[in-house]
Amino acid sequence: MPTMSHAPWWKSGVIYQIYLRSFQDSNGDGIGDVQGIIQRLDYLKWLGIDAVWVTPFYPSPMADFGYDVSDHTNIDPIFGTLADVDRLIQCLHDSNLKILVDFVAAHTSDQHPWFIESRSSPSNPKQDWYIWKDPTPEGGLPNNWIGRFDGLSAWEWEPKREQYYLHSFLKEQPDINWRSNGAKQAMLDVLHFWLQRGIDGIRVDAAYRALKDPQFRDNPVNPDWHPGMEPSDRLFEVFSKNIPEIHDYNRMLRSLVEKYDGDRLLMAELYKSLEEIVKHYGANDEFHLPLNSELMSSDCQWNAEYVREVVDRYERLLPEGAWPNWSLSNHDKHRVASRIGIAQARIGMMLLLTLRGTPTIYYGEELGMEDAWIPSEHIQDPWEIKAPGIGVGRDTERTPMLWDNSPHAGFCPESVPPWLPITYDYSHLHVKAQQQDSRSFLSLTRALLRLRRQHSVLQLGDYIALYSPSQLFCYRRFNENSELIIALNFSSEYQEWVLPIEFRHQSTVLLSTFMDRHGGKLGDILELRGNEGLVIQRCSQSSDTD
Ligand code: GLC
Repeated sequence: MPTMSHAPWWKSGVIYQIYLRSFQDSNGDGIGDVQGIIQRLDYLKWLGIDAVWVTPFYPSPMADFGYDVSDHTNIDPIFGTLADVDRLIQCLHDSNLKILVDFVAAHTSDQHPWFIESRSSPSNPKQDWYIWKDPTPEGGLPNNWIGRFDGLSAWEWEPKREQYYLHSFLKEQPDINWRSNGAKQAMLDVLHFWLQRGIDGIRVDAAYRALKDPQFRDNPVNPDWHPGMEPSDRLFEVFSKNIPEIHDYNRMLRSLVEKYDGDRLLMAELYKSLEEIVKHYGANDEFHLPLNSELMSSDCQWNAEYVREVVDRYERLLPEGAWPNWSLSNHDKHRVASRIGIAQARIGMMLLLTLRGTPTIYYGEELGMEDAWIPSEHIQDPWEIKAPGIGVGRDTERTPMLWDNSPHAGFCPESVPPWLPITYDYSHLHVKAQQQDSRSFLSLTRALLRLRRQHSVLQLGDYIALYSPSQLFCYRRFNENSELIIALNFSSEYQEWVLPIEFRHQSTVLLSTFMDRHGGKLGDILELRGNEGLVIQRCSQSSDTD
């Protein structure tokens, strides 16, 4: 078992995802920026997270809000300057915090100079940096692949070359050809650029899309597709993503990152089943942390049996030495408090911060922030615009961080509208109010983060599920010195649970999700109120605090 001294920081640490546009505006344009993060550093330190993952800050026409990069080694003026990012890295490091950035690997903006050159003629030095194909002999599209956002053809005609280019997302996001040596080298240089600047790791965006089937075969048709489903689900993306060769690509990225000292972290966005994501660890030579989206998927059923099955399946599937990741929401998925309700969101936070593995917290999740309703005239997300009304829109989970009770919640000055509106009553939800309330959601999140630091068993200890009634999920976290039990009531009803024998009359409550129960000796039976989660410690043990 790894001990604190030689486990890399990212195994014991907690990652906090900052959706840059929405965290803090420092220059009064209604859009969050890099200086804004620096201004909120004290909050991040106070909260007790270990690393921030910042979504793309690179120059971009913002067709997909920064996931359409037009210069990989600079900063969009909306967000600041390269000097600001250098300062951010420095300030975070001075505060003993790490920084992770997005590496948008599978596509660029159509305004990227590489693409402008590549599209200019069939013969130019970058002609193969993107995926170009001739029409079929009959004059048709190269194959049946469709775009993720609109479900329409993923091929766009370029008259200057008389060829089609591939775009897996918007037509403003042409796919990079990683099989071109020139493009590959240029992208790897981008990685070196950021690693040399001192970042502590990267999240590889759409990692599974970097390589395509060499023969560009048609994707099979999904016979069960019907209107109302996501447009791109009309096909099974067998040949356009996650092809077997992707593991060579993963290994290439890993070997590059390994050249740098200081335990740099290689995370990957996959949005795949657990069975699939575990393959992306390789033999400890692919990603350190393929991100696990199981508990944020729209298929996730929030009940004890379902969640327990997910946790146990993941633990079973993980290859030797592989480390888990847990997340409840992100900038592409609806906020957890909206999916499961605010009462259960507290259970979610306790689960997130007490399971074995590295947790990622999405900004605002520590407050119990919910999705916002976005009036149609304010809709920004290209996905919602392309596929309206079926629930794919992501503006809802990207609204400004709630700092205080002022008109724009302290995110931006009162005189400018924030880029997305705050359409709900946040008077009791904002940071300032919650900091003054010892039982608030924020106080719970912070207490859990503190507990993780005090009890190394929560950071690096083992996990085993315990037998419990169907509405409870109970598990043990243990190492050679210490044992904790986490008991989570997924129902709104009172529940009882007979404690394991060695905990009877020998255990005490460390923390309740209600923040009103601490200490005292427990008997044989553990009583949980509806929606309550508890962390319990065996009190005969010497404290594991460090
Ligand atoms: C990733 C990002 C998402 C973006 C997409 C296309 O999935 O997380 O926000 O829209 O890539 O770039």
